[in-house]
Amino acid sequence: MFPTTGQPVIVVGASLVGLSAALCLSSHRVPTIVLEKHSGKSLHPRAIGFTSRTMEIYRSLGIDNIEPAPEDFKLERAHVESLTGKRNDNSSWSDTERKTKGEKPQNQAPKSSAPKKEYSVERASAIPQDKLEPMLEALALERGADIRRKHKLISVDQDEDGVVATVTDAEGNEQKIHGSYLIAADGNRSTVRELLQIPRHGRGYMQTLSSVLFRAPLEQWTKGFVQFDIDQPDLKAFLASYSDGRWALMFKDAVDRDEPALRAAIYQAVGRSDFPLEIITTGRWELTALVADTFQSGRVFLAGDAAHTLPPNRGGYGANTGIHDVHNLAWKLAAVLSGKLSPELLNTYDAERRPIALLRHDQIFVRADYKVHLDTATPAGEKIDDDAMEFGQIYLSDGIIGADESLPRAKKPDEWNGQPGTHIPHFWVLKDGEKVPTLDLLSQGEWTLFSESDEWSEAISFVNENSPIPVRFVHLGESVQFVHGDDFQKSLEVSHSGAVLVRPDGYIAWRVKDIPGNASETLGSAISKVSFSSGGPQL
Ligand SMILES: Cc1cc2nc3c(=O)[nH]c(=O)nc-3n(C[C@H](O)[C@H](O)[C@H](O)COP(=O)(O)OP(=O)(O)OC[C@H]3O[C@@H](n4cnc5c(N)ncnc54)[C@H](O)[C@@H]3O)c2cc1C
Ligand SMILES: *[C@@H]1O[C@H](CO)[C@@H](O)[C@H](O)[C@H]1NC(C)=O
Ligand SMILES: *[C@@H]1O[C@H](CO)[C@@H](O)[C@H](O)[C@H]1NC(C)=O
Ligand SMILES: *[C@@H]1O[C@H](CO)[C@@H](O)[C@H](O)[C@H]1NC(C)=O
Repeated sequence: MFPTTGQPVIVVGASLVGLSAALCLSSHRVPTIVLEKHSGKSLHPRAIGFTSRTMEIYRSLGIDNIEPAPEDFKLERAHVESLTGKRNDNSSWSDTERKTKGEKPQNQAPKSSAPKKEYSVERASAIPQDKLEPMLEALALERGADIRRKHKLISVDQDEDGVVATVTDAEGNEQKIHGSYLIAADGNRSTVRELLQIPRHGRGYMQTLSSVLFRAPLEQWTKGFVQFDIDQPDLKAFLASYSDGRWALMFKDAVDRDEPALRAAIYQAVGRSDFPLEIITTGRWELTALVADTFQSGRVFLAGDAAHTLPPNRGGYGANTGIHDVHNLAWKLAAVLSGKLSPELLNTYDAERRPIALLRHDQIFVRADYKVHLDTATPAGEKIDDDAMEFGQIYLSDGIIGADESLPRAKKPDEWNGQPGTHIPHFWVLKDGEKVPTLDLLSQGEWTLFSESDEWSEAISFVNENSPIPVRFVHLGESVQFVHGDDFQKSLEVSHSGAVLVRPDGYIAWRVKDIPGNASETLGSAISKVSFSSGGPQL
């Protein structure tokens, strides 16, 4: 994919979110310059859990070399005295039951006769962040991103025409870099956010943790578990595997330990000392939960930890939420930069993504791991199902027709019925004789109208002649056959002649239950509304 010419988008930060932004933008042929102050990657692997939704995004970007977690992967945490010692109890990774096939004996009646609904074509992945980032970086370079390491952003200016980033480069010289827009993916301590003086709110600081990263062959004793709560009178810690021989022991205190003390603590956490042990590095970090008051300031957008720092939890809200941010933003920037859609569309980024971050912030504290950090100022709220948080958070903005503020902010995909603002549900269809997920019927950058009725063809032609943005028509039941009968009408609550209009990011922007009298006119006005192209030709 070769970017077209034009003012690039500047991305600050070449970590997970910045690199994902560069990849999303390159899929829309938007040139990017990525500025990164460090010369290499960080030594600590950090995130390890990448969710199904994240993997769906990577799939749509044509990234297919990330190993999914094995199907029988135990997403469970064991509460133990030590790794090899007494086991107190096991808690599932998420508080939601995620039974895998192997766990249920065939002769035992299932709790519910309904099979567990399949929500995604993609399985989550347990790849350490420091392995994923170089993969993303190599791809981003291949796809034309201009990644400049040892370039530290020190100030940012903007006017009606663009942004100017001032950096100190590898030689220590100041440079000015011009761009059309800027994405601040510069992490928790975001320079950009601080320069713009955007405040943050939330639970705030909770705890300082010290950690040690080491290599040791502990797999022989884990019984398939990857996370352990170590509980001894004089050792309270959390032991986590990166599934590649590396382990992190995180102490629930901020005590400084020298190497002999670290080794002793590791032996104590494992419950034996007869194994080779190599200490890689130590770390110290503060658990914080803060969300920026706005994700946009003119031509500058905050994404990832710069926008929302959420403590690592088992639902993977930290890194994953940031990747979803830039997926939401990239197609909008591309559409505006191409001159097809109005810059007003960009305001929907904050409107759609900030409520997601706020809800995730609150949900962290109603989950078992963080309940202890609940303070009186933080309302408890009700716990929302993990699948609902992962697949069923709704977008309500001016870019969605019929966005209903009274709806719950998240539900399981099979509890939604095509409400505008929800993601198109996953189901299997046959396309040219091949079984494919709905996800693969979408195409990068394009809007898609799904209907079972061919009556929409004329409206599609009309819109494609008159509207600035092309709309693809997926005629269900015809060019694309259902694998399971009437999935579409049932799951989207439309009739045979009804239709849903899906945005380039897979979210439903508009739904009509039956074909209207003048479909051309109705579709045309819907498109101009949701795409903010009302200034466009004749619509
Ligand atoms: C110990 C630990 C475990 C974690 N585990 C998980 C997990 O299991 N699941 C999960 O989802 N999340 C987890 N997280 C969170 C996850 O690592 C972060 O959410 C993620 O790294 C955020 O990515 P980011 O790209 O937004 O920011 P960062 O990764 O913080 O990257 C910001 C980048 O911007 C660069 N930068 C900063 N300022 C400038 C500047 N002025 N100029 C140029 N470049 C700059 C930095 O050098 C850095 O490379 C964990 C975090 C930690 C610390
Ligand atoms: C926890 O899991 C282990 C390994 O599967 C099992 O042996 C043990 O009985 C479990 N403990 C509890 C309390 O469920
Ligand atoms: C996030 O930033 C705040 C303030 O800059 C800092 O106190 C905290 O330690 C940081 N948290 C993490 C997890 O890096
Ligand atoms: C439908 O609306 C379009 C656009 O306004 C118009 O050109 C067309 O004539 C209308 N068709 C009918 C059958 O009214």
